[in-house]
Amino acid sequence: MKRQGVFQIAIDGPVGAGKTSVGRLLARRLGCRFLDTGLTYRAVALAALDREIDLKDSAALGSLAATMRLAVGGDPDGESKILVDGKDVSARLKSESVSDAASLVSAVQEVRRHMVAAQRRIAASESIVMVGRDIGTVVLPDADLKIFLTATPETRARRRYDELVGRGEAASYDEILASLRGRDRRDSERDASPLRAARGAHVVKTDNMELEEVVSAIEKLAGGG
Ligand code: DC
Repeated sequence: MKRQGVFQIAIDGPVGAGKTSVGRLLARRLGCRFLDTGLTYRAVALAALDREIDLKDSAALGSLAATMRLAVGGDPDGESKILVDGKDVSARLKSESVSDAASLVSAVQEVRRHMVAAQRRIAASESIVMVGRDIGTVVLPDADLKIFLTATPETRARRRYDELVGRGEAASYDEILASLRGRDRRDSERDASPLRAARGAHVVKTDNMELEEVVSAIEKLAGGG
């Protein structure tokens, strides 16, 4: 249940559709909280890697998710800060090894149950823009506005490639495209909360749109802007 006067905006979509940039800027414009739920699965994945838990051992991953202390903080820039057992692990969550592990960990039903409960608790008390894969379908099915943000795999791979090259990192477009297709497949074919547009979601295709345009379009749908 959400408190009166609290609004919820759910943004889902495949990897690289721009959910995080869009969600963060939208939350800033609306003056509300932002939560990137992918970070919660990444935190479980990192903890599993650190503790050398076998990523195929669903029972061990489930009990890790049940017992680890996960806290989500925010700073004024809208960045989500993730604490595991009191330690800030935010800087370690974006590596390729954590991305791959998170894709496996997030397919475990018991892990999802604990993360969804934590995400709902956060959304109950204050207005929020929440982004992920199952926000409109599972976490916040009664959200005031549901968005399914998407773009072709080629567009998404190109954005990722440009981002890495822009940071001076070595990158291969073909490898990025192949890895993105693999993660798309895992996210949409898994049994537990597969990625799909929620009932009533507005589908926004971002191929030919700039970040600002996407955010303004969503603001309009939200009744502001
Ligand atoms: O969005 P991301 O790449 O940070 O997400 C990390 C992994 O977690 C990815 O494999 C998808 C999964 N995920 C999920 O299953 N449900 C969510 N609500 C958010 C992310």
